[in-house]
Amino acid sequence: MIVLGIETSCDETAAAVVAEIPPSRRIRSNEVYGQAVLHAPFGGVVPEISARAHLDHLDTAITRALVQAEVTLAQIDGVAAAAGPGLIGGLIVGAMTAKGIAWAANKPFIAVNHLEAHALTARLTHNVAFPYLLLLVSGGHCQLLSCMGVGSYVCLGTTLDDAAGEAFDKAAKLIGLGYPGGPAIERTARVGDPHRFALPRPLKGRQGCDFSFSGLKTAVRLLTCERGPFDARDVADLAASVECAICDALADRTANAIAWFRHHHPNGQSLVASGGVAANGQLRHRLAALAANSGLRFVAPPPELCTDNAAMIAWAGIERLRLGLTDGLDSALRPRWPLDVTPQPSWVAARRAC
Ligand code: KG4
Ligand code: ZN
Repeated sequence: MIVLGIETSCDETAAAVVAEIPPSRRIRSNEVYGQAVLHAPFGGVVPEISARAHLDHLDTAITRALVQAEVTLAQIDGVAAAAGPGLIGGLIVGAMTAKGIAWAANKPFIAVNHLEAHALTARLTHNVAFPYLLLLVSGGHCQLLSCMGVGSYVCLGTTLDDAAGEAFDKAAKLIGLGYPGGPAIERTARVGDPHRFALPRPLKGRQGCDFSFSGLKTAVRLLTCERGPFDARDVADLAASVECAICDALADRTANAIAWFRHHHPNGQSLVASGGVAANGQLRHRLAALAANSGLRFVAPPPELCTDNAAMIAWAGIERLRLGLTDGLDSALRPRWPLDVTPQPSWVAARRAC
C-alpha cells in the first residue's frame, strides 16, 4: 500500500510518500518546507501568512515527494491530508489540493486528524502495538492518551490552559530567544544552570493527569520584568530553568498516567512520546527513565518525525485505508477536532481515577 500524505495545518508545508509492504514500512520521501523565517518577526504563527506560504510551496513539495519516491499518481493507493485540528486557511489549501488529486487520479481521499497522525507515528517508526500510553506534546496540544486502536483513544489528561510547546514558545519570546522557542531554549539551555531561577512546576504532586503552564509563563514574565536586562549567562540559566520546569511538570503528570495505564492495561507495553516537544532531549531522557522504572518500553520517533511532517499523515492514511476508513470529497474540515470525539463513561471515569 502506497499513500501520498499532505500536511498544512500549521507552519510546515509538507508532502510525503509512505509505503507498507507487510511487515516492512518505508518512508519513500518526506518533504518539509518550514515557515519559521516568515513568522519569526511576529514571535508566533500568523495564520494569513501561513496560508499564503502553503499555497506558494505545496505544489513543489508534492512534486518533489513523488519524484523522490519514484512513484506516479497512478501507482499510489490513496491521498491523505490533515483535515484538522489546525488553522483553517492552511487546512483548506492542503485538503482541497489532496481532494483535487484524489478526484483527478481516481484514488480514495483520507481526511486525517493531525493529532491521530502524531499518535500513530510510533507505529510507523517502531511498530508499537496497541494499547500504549501516549504523551502528545506539541505547540497547540498537551495530552496524555490511552491509545486503544486506530480511531480509539481515551484522554487521561489535557492542559487547562497553554500547551507545553506554547509554554516553550512564549517563554522564549519573553527571554528574547525568538521563534520557534522550543529548539532555541533547548540549544541555549545546554550551557545554563537549571537551578539558578526557581520556577513553578504547575500541578506537580497533585492527583490526575491534567497540565497547566500559564503560571510558569507568568513567572518568567515577572522575572524578566524584575531582574532584567539579562546577559548571556542569565539567558542561558533562564532557558535551562524553563526547560527543566516544563520537563518536570510533564514527567510528574506522566508518572500518574503510567500508574493508571499499568493498572487498567497490564498487557500494554509502551510509553510513547510524540509531537514537536517530544523532540526535546531532556524530556526524552526523563520519560525513558520513568518508563524503565515502570517496566515499560519508551518509544519516541526521531526528532524530525516528532515535529510536523507529512510522513505521519501518509502513515495515518495507510492505517485508516487498511481498515476501509476513507472519506468523501465533500467531507468537512475541522479546525477543532479532539481525538476522543465521543466522550464515553470510561473517559470520565479514567480522568477521575488517575
Ligand atoms: O508538533 P509541532 O511541530 O506542531 C504542532 O502541531 O503544534 O510542534 C511544534 C512545537 C513548538 O511549540 C516548538 O517550540 C516545539 O514543538 N518544539 C520543541 C522542540 N522542537 C519543537 N520544544 C522543545 N524542545 C524542542 N527541541
Ligand atoms: Zn503537530
